[in-house]
Amino acid sequence: MKRIVAVMMAFCIGTFAYAGGGQQGGGDSGKIKIGVSMPTKSLQRWNQDGANMKDQLEKAGYAVDLQYGGDNDIPTQVAQLENMISTGCKALVIAAIDGSSLTEVLKEAKAKGIAVISYDRLIMNSDAVSYYATFDNFKVGTMQGQYIESQLNLKTAAGPFNIELFTGAPDDNNVNFFFGGAMSVLEPYIQSGKLKVLSGQTTKAQCATNNWSTEESQKRMENLITANKYGPNGTKLDAVLSSNDSVANGITNALVAAGYTKANFPILTGQDCDVTSTKNLIAGTQSMSVFKDTRTLAAKAVEMVNAIAKGSTVSVNDTNTYDNGIKVIPSFLCDPVVVTTSNYKEALLDSGYYQASQIQ
Ligand code: BGC
Repeated sequence: MKRIVAVMMAFCIGTFAYAGGGQQGGGDSGKIKIGVSMPTKSLQRWNQDGANMKDQLEKAGYAVDLQYGGDNDIPTQVAQLENMISTGCKALVIAAIDGSSLTEVLKEAKAKGIAVISYDRLIMNSDAVSYYATFDNFKVGTMQGQYIESQLNLKTAAGPFNIELFTGAPDDNNVNFFFGGAMSVLEPYIQSGKLKVLSGQTTKAQCATNNWSTEESQKRMENLITANKYGPNGTKLDAVLSSNDSVANGITNALVAAGYTKANFPILTGQDCDVTSTKNLIAGTQSMSVFKDTRTLAAKAVEMVNAIAKGSTVSVNDTNTYDNGIKVIPSFLCDPVVVTTSNYKEALLDSGYYQASQIQ
């Protein structure tokens, strides 16, 4: 209780000018309320992010208004934010569905002196954003590119090798970093002809997957298989770059349906270590994933909220990279980790991220 009072005091006298004030309602009356806005319930990681943040914020003494934007529904997310702003949230932690759709609603937040932390995805075109907590997104992409480079031995092998490229939602700023990072490794090999993209689809727009949808990536992979006659007995497909797991899952479905097995599966990348992908890793129908521990990211966002509340220095480790079109947002980039069959037990089970029964 003592702690909550201390935090409340700090919010009042902190660096924010809380013009609006606002009431905290319900059983949480008297507590500072923090709004947490996640994009969707349909992908596992956001459920974990939301739950971790609620838990950690509540333990720190705050009341939490946690909302999910339906199934990636932008108007729903905007309406939820409007509600958080009008019901007295003192800080908002937001993972945007569409990074560019929150400019208007956040003007209101800024006018009320509400702190805005951009979570995982950068909110674009808004001067209301105070800080950004994320993983090193460019590094995620380079890890995927380097994995393909080392598995195909691109530095020394003669090739050529066939590859197809998939990334995520074009309205997610992270895609520029994931795809950009991967292509920074792969592009020279495509230029030299050591890697061949038979579809000819190499631009971010051509490789995008709306809403990071498994169904969409599956359809695109099925079309690529048909058009280029890829198959265990057809044209050899050596690798598929996928920026994340939900997209990789669709690719796996299409490749398995085309007859690929563990014995001849193309190299396939991912990100998040979702349950389905972890099972696919173990089964040999996905090669790697990039682990971004949602507990670490949630803890970083909570730490930012606390520092802002106390008016103390917010710890960041990048003040150059993330320009949201209005200003460079001071960011904290957490470290991603490559996960394969050789280290998944240590990374995911020993760390308590999953129980063994969840990924069997
Ligand atoms: C996140 C990824 C996630 C993807 C789809 C990205 O912004 O950084 O971890 O896989 O969204 O939800």
